[in-house]
Amino acid sequence: MTQRVRMGMVGGGPGAFIGEVHRTAAAITGDIDLVAGAFSRNAEASRDFGATLGLSPDRSYGSYAELFEGEARLPEDERMQCVSIVTPNDSHADISCAALEAGFHVMCDKPAAGVLEDALRMERAVEASGLLFGLTHTYTGYPLVIEARERIAAGELGEIRRVAVSYLQDWLSREEDTHSSKQASWRNDPKRSGESGAFADIGTHAFNLVEFMTGRKVARIAAQLRSVIPGRAIDDDGGALFELDNGAAGQISASQVCTGAINALRIEIYGSEASLHWFQEEPNRLSLKKRGEPERVLRPGAGVPYLSPPALAVCRTPGGHPEGYIEAFANLYAAFAADVRTYPQAAAQPRGYATIGDGVDALRFIRAARLSSEADSAWTALAGIENVSP
Ligand SMILES: NC(=O)c1ccc[n+]([C@@H]2O[C@H](COP(=O)([O-])OP(=O)(O)OC[C@H]3O[C@@H](n4cnc5c(N)ncnc54)[C@H](O)[C@@H]3O)[C@@H](O)[C@H]2O)c1
Repeated sequence: MTQRVRMGMVGGGPGAFIGEVHRTAAAITGDIDLVAGAFSRNAEASRDFGATLGLSPDRSYGSYAELFEGEARLPEDERMQCVSIVTPNDSHADISCAALEAGFHVMCDKPAAGVLEDALRMERAVEASGLLFGLTHTYTGYPLVIEARERIAAGELGEIRRVAVSYLQDWLSREEDTHSSKQASWRNDPKRSGESGAFADIGTHAFNLVEFMTGRKVARIAAQLRSVIPGRAIDDDGGALFELDNGAAGQISASQVCTGAINALRIEIYGSEASLHWFQEEPNRLSLKKRGEPERVLRPGAGVPYLSPPALAVCRTPGGHPEGYIEAFANLYAAFAADVRTYPQAAAQPRGYATIGDGVDALRFIRAARLSSEADSAWTALAGIENVSP
């Protein structure tokens, strides 16, 4: 019988947003048991919350330091094998590095860190430990996003010429939204969010999707980041032109002040032979268009004959039964759990989830966007941006 993977969690306590999504996603893989956690910065709240999740009191810890110490003391076949980190951005680096040092694989939510230097520190820690590190760039877990990547890699679009991507929301579009919830408060605080607001929070998803789907790297960017709402110390809206490493042109928008937009993540990729179009709010529809031909609409579903093996591998239900956000997260967790189980013989590439290298790339994108914006949208290269004085 295959052994289930034992996971711990840091963050995701009372009233938190994404922790519950991670727990549900991990549970529906059927592969992962949540066995321990430190769910809040408040020790008592953390222990109480562990009890509500049904954890034994001795494995509901008061802090992440106690979690790593306590679990490391347990016999190897009992202790957690990996930890899910679902805290605000500024704490990802310290918690990840402590987990890796204590010998635990890490699954961390995006962005990898608040600032580029912290992401680079995490990359060094991952390399030094030799352990697994996954980043939950949710949208790469959707079957049709994987299908798009496969078709682009197989050359169906021809040479990629242009990419248009945008991630627009409106939940921070009013002045009173700035501190309306704890999620809004830390995102609008540069000390906790990091060197960017909207561009880091959702722009990194859009950026990651471009690199994931096209198989290309963003080489340079000319950006304008803005704080539209008075009193904000961080960008809530931004746009940029970018260039891929094959010379293709792109444009990206990331905004949390676009009235009427909920989770409007949209990507369009145009090649010399065809184009692909995907919209996150209708994730079970991938449109393939060719000049002079009617649009073709691709759908996911177990057994759908025209899907590629990697896309089919992550379809959980028969065609016509929609799959969505939680299942996409679960696909990342399933791939991660498979690697934890087979570690150190973990699969090389592709892993089925973003790595710390992808996380560092995203922080380079943020740094380059910020510096470009400060220099009146001057074209700015991503490579080596850590060597440019911020
Ligand atoms: N992948 C996605 O689509 C997605 C969506 C939302 C959020 N996120 C990311 O997830 C992370 C959390 O975002 P959120 O909206 O859930 O935040 P949140 O404020 O709702 O939750 C954060 C939780 O972490 C806890 N916490 C903070 N510091 C801690 C510490 N040192 N030890 C233990 N617990 C601690 C808080 O008490 C809270 O329970 C962020 O990095 C965010 O960017 C990703």
